[in-house]
Amino acid sequence: MNAIAGKHIVLGLTGGIACYKAAEFCRALVKAGASVQVVMTQAAEQFITPVTMQALSNRPVYSSQWDVRADNNMAHINLSREADAIVVAPCSADFIARLAHGAADDLLALMCLARPVERVPLLLAPAMNREMWAHPATQRNLVQVQQDGAVVLGVGSGDQACGETGDGRMLEPQELLEEAGAFFQPKLLAGQQMLVTAGPTFEAIDPVRGITNHSSGKMGFAIARAAREAGAEVTLVAGPVSLPTPRGVRRIDVVSAQNMYDAVIPLARDASIFVAAAAVADWRPDRAAQEKIKKDGSGATPTLGFAENPDILATVAQSERARSGALYCVGFAAESHDLLVHATAKRARKGVPLLVGNIGPATFGQDDNALLLVDAHGHSELARASKRVLAQQLVAEIAARRSSTRSEE
Ligand code: C5P
Repeated sequence: MNAIAGKHIVLGLTGGIACYKAAEFCRALVKAGASVQVVMTQAAEQFITPVTMQALSNRPVYSSQWDVRADNNMAHINLSREADAIVVAPCSADFIARLAHGAADDLLALMCLARPVERVPLLLAPAMNREMWAHPATQRNLVQVQQDGAVVLGVGSGDQACGETGDGRMLEPQELLEEAGAFFQPKLLAGQQMLVTAGPTFEAIDPVRGITNHSSGKMGFAIARAAREAGAEVTLVAGPVSLPTPRGVRRIDVVSAQNMYDAVIPLARDASIFVAAAAVADWRPDRAAQEKIKKDGSGATPTLGFAENPDILATVAQSERARSGALYCVGFAAESHDLLVHATAKRARKGVPLLVGNIGPATFGQDDNALLLVDAHGHSELARASKRVLAQQLVAEIAARRSSTRSEE
């Protein structure tokens, strides 16, 4: 469930072609369970009509501070006090400039200024031409509004309505919904540095062939995203997968187990939580051929010898940092049978405080799963759900265990 559900959002629209995306964003907010009060500037009304926004939000739209519909004639006070957040999408360069100066010359600017800053956050989704975005005045104003407490969502990069290409695009409606939801997630991992491995590894036989494990990377990517939404700084070391990087997550792509080991070991020195969700190959061909191994027509088959890969999780879990309690390690297990027995044994063998088992049947590539959690106190289950929801639940479980480990130190 998106954390925006049940929130009351004032959605401000300012002048820009991205207003057409605000209609979709408004719809997405309502569908996600938020109530939405739309406020438009006069410039926004040049791009999209209040009628459209009223139909999508199920509420009358406000655009003037002189609107006689407000009993006490103080729409700017009434509307801003009721809100859980004011989200301005699209937010024009001009509106950012006006905010930076504390202007109060129309209803939306008045509301932003009159809102109780501590209680009603202000989220801005800028949308403008790339030159306007890059202009020192805009960048200066952005710094100022952020210092004054505003949160900036985006910007995106790519083709612009004016025909140019670059930074300044408003985030897509679904991205905005995610960002707004993430803003309301409890910050259970604030101040934590999380390192996550995800996906399979690929061990070369020759330049065109290799061996690998089944793994879509979906669970590890969902954990990285949930951890970032819970306030952690997240680095994701990913094997070969075709998944988009979760917003705000630093991603390092690797291919083999040795590559993953080489990336993880230095990063683990700064991490406070390590989640090893990757399906790392246990063995690699002992000698990868430099050239493609050719069929010679005789029916003879090549013989492969294997070497053991380094165990990334066990190495990290045995480091001084992990043993001192400064780094909390979480391992994963995918088993074909006797999950509890194997997961319990694996937890001890790897030396990790928490071992998470994938409850069968095999969930490779699927969007849902169920998890078995094994720790020093026994075991419990997270019931079948989407990997997104499971990742959020797992992050909460890790945060609770992490804080209890720290309070025992
Ligand atoms: O050793 P096994 O593959 O059974 O254990 C699985 C757990 O260990 C997972 O958390 C996986 O990411 C991690 N692992 C690792 N390095 C390896 C093998 C597994 O980090 N070489």
